[in-house]
Amino acid sequence: MAVIKKPLKMARAYVAACVAGGELAVDATAGNGYDTLFLARLVGANGKVMAFDIQKKAIENTCRRLKAAKMLSRVTLVPDGHENMVHYIHQPVAAVMFNLGYLPGGDHLLVTRPKTTLAALGAGLQLLRPGGVVTIVCYTGHQGGPEEKAALLGCLSGLEQKQFTVLHYTLLNQVNEPPSLLVIEKRT
Ligand SMILES: C[S@@+](CC[C@H](N)C(=O)[O-])C[C@H]1O[C@@H](n2cnc3c(N)ncnc32)[C@H](O)[C@@H]1O
Repeated sequence: MAVIKKPLKMARAYVAACVAGGELAVDATAGNGYDTLFLARLVGANGKVMAFDIQKKAIENTCRRLKAAKMLSRVTLVPDGHENMVHYIHQPVAAVMFNLGYLPGGDHLLVTRPKTTLAALGAGLQLLRPGGVVTIVCYTGHQGGPEEKAALLGCLSGLEQKQFTVLHYTLLNQVNEPPSLLVIEKRT
């Protein structure tokens, strides 16, 4: 097995390293529910996941996946934009996962956007408990993707280092514009 992991796998490794059973975790982009299911398993029977998506199809796909895995009771599915997460979450969060871009198998024009992504990131950083992480997998192969990534890099490189540690994980020699990963840890 390769030692260097792809960004999607690394995101999960960072989240798994910090989330304990019984905690609250957020999937900011539920999509087809793979990350939501991963988080549901991680928080355990006493934990909770809040999963956001603006597309009905994504909420339905995620719901189906969770039901099949008998994990639906651990998850609240929120059919609203992640930029509104502060209206739904009223306790500290151990991890927030973003997987940006479009719904695989869905409309490629319905993508995450810099303005709402940055608003959700700000909310997520506020809600994060000390030692918690936000992971963001971002893509540059679709229209608007490079601008979204640039906006995130601009915002994150200005974060106060006494409060947050920020990592940019990217594979340099891959074809077809692979995703890259941003990880933000709230310092204790
Ligand atoms: C790449 S997919 C996510 C894949 C997902 N993490 C998975 O495991 O299957 C990106 C998702 O972000 C959603 N999205 C776009 N804008 C959003 C917003 N403002 N709030 C929440 N979700 C949004 C899209 O509808 C799409 O389903």
